[in-house]
Amino acid sequence: MTPRLVLITGANRGIGREIALRMAGEGFQVVMACRNVSKALLVRDDIRARTGNALVDVLPLDLSSLASVRMFADTFRSTYRRLNMLINNAGILAFSKGCTSDGFEQTVGVNYLGPFLLTSLLLPLFPTGEDNRIINLTSMVWPLGTFDIERFLAYKGLKAYAVSKYAILLWTMYMADKLAVRDITVQAVHPGVVRTGIFSQRKWYDVLINTVMRPFLLSVEQGALPVLKLALEPQGIEKTARYFKGFKEQSLQAADVPPALIKVLMQRSADWVNTRM
Ligand SMILES: NC(=O)c1ccc[n+]([C@@H]2O[C@H](COP(=O)([O-])OP(=O)(O)OC[C@H]3O[C@@H](n4cnc5c(N)ncnc54)[C@H](OP(=O)(O)O)[C@@H]3O)[C@@H](O)[C@H]2O)c1
Repeated sequence: MTPRLVLITGANRGIGREIALRMAGEGFQVVMACRNVSKALLVRDDIRARTGNALVDVLPLDLSSLASVRMFADTFRSTYRRLNMLINNAGILAFSKGCTSDGFEQTVGVNYLGPFLLTSLLLPLFPTGEDNRIINLTSMVWPLGTFDIERFLAYKGLKAYAVSKYAILLWTMYMADKLAVRDITVQAVHPGVVRTGIFSQRKWYDVLINTVMRPFLLSVEQGALPVLKLALEPQGIEKTARYFKGFKEQSLQAADVPPALIKVLMQRSADWVNTRM
């Protein structure tokens, strides 16, 4: 029997690496989409050795470049031809200013616009009538991410992170509505506050952040668990909840995810990355 295929972005470290390890252990064919291929290959070898699952591959993907996303999607399509699960995990939290190669603010570009394009390009690969899932990593800070659509690409630092995670939530709502008829569940999850490299800014105050936060942080193994629950547990498409904070379903009000805002964000996002949703 052909194993189910899961694609995980940012699978070379942090929560994504743990998810890849556990999904390989569950017998999935795993494709790790990573920008640092040499590091990812070492992780791939480790996962293969620890799980005995040889069907773990690495493909290069840099979410800060729409050209890279398009190239990745072409290679993925011609190599695998199908996809059962997409876990949009890769993300950054950058305090400093920076731009993607397409000129977008880096955090919004990497966390939201890159995955938005990637997902739209891969959607045709989900087979109808099967158990298909898309899981997006968001953050509980999303309520701080309210934005003016005209300024969407201009926010910086922590605000940009929150905006990117709110945009992921709005996009998740949109896709969940649209893709149910195609047998694809779409969910967003906050994994918890987890001890990974995401807080590191390569600055002198890293030590301070790590020391202060360390006792309050979950391990990577713990942080992966809410994602793995959504990935592995059986679920009916009609009853699927859309946003989880850790293991807990959260009900969202229309004021949290206004349909008019979703509509305008989807239209603009499709224009920015030059795709159709
Ligand atoms: N840790 C937390 O407390 C926490 C809380 C809420 C939400 N989250 C979310 O959980 C997800 C995973 O975070 P984490 O804590 O595991 O972070 P992490 O340890 O810093 O790992 C981030 C992953 O994303 C990859 N990545 C970064 N920029 C990329 C790009 N341009 N193209 C492709 N891949 C890129 C990294 O690759 P490189 O190794 O090449 O940099 C790495 O594999 C993120 O979406 C994050 O926002 C985390």
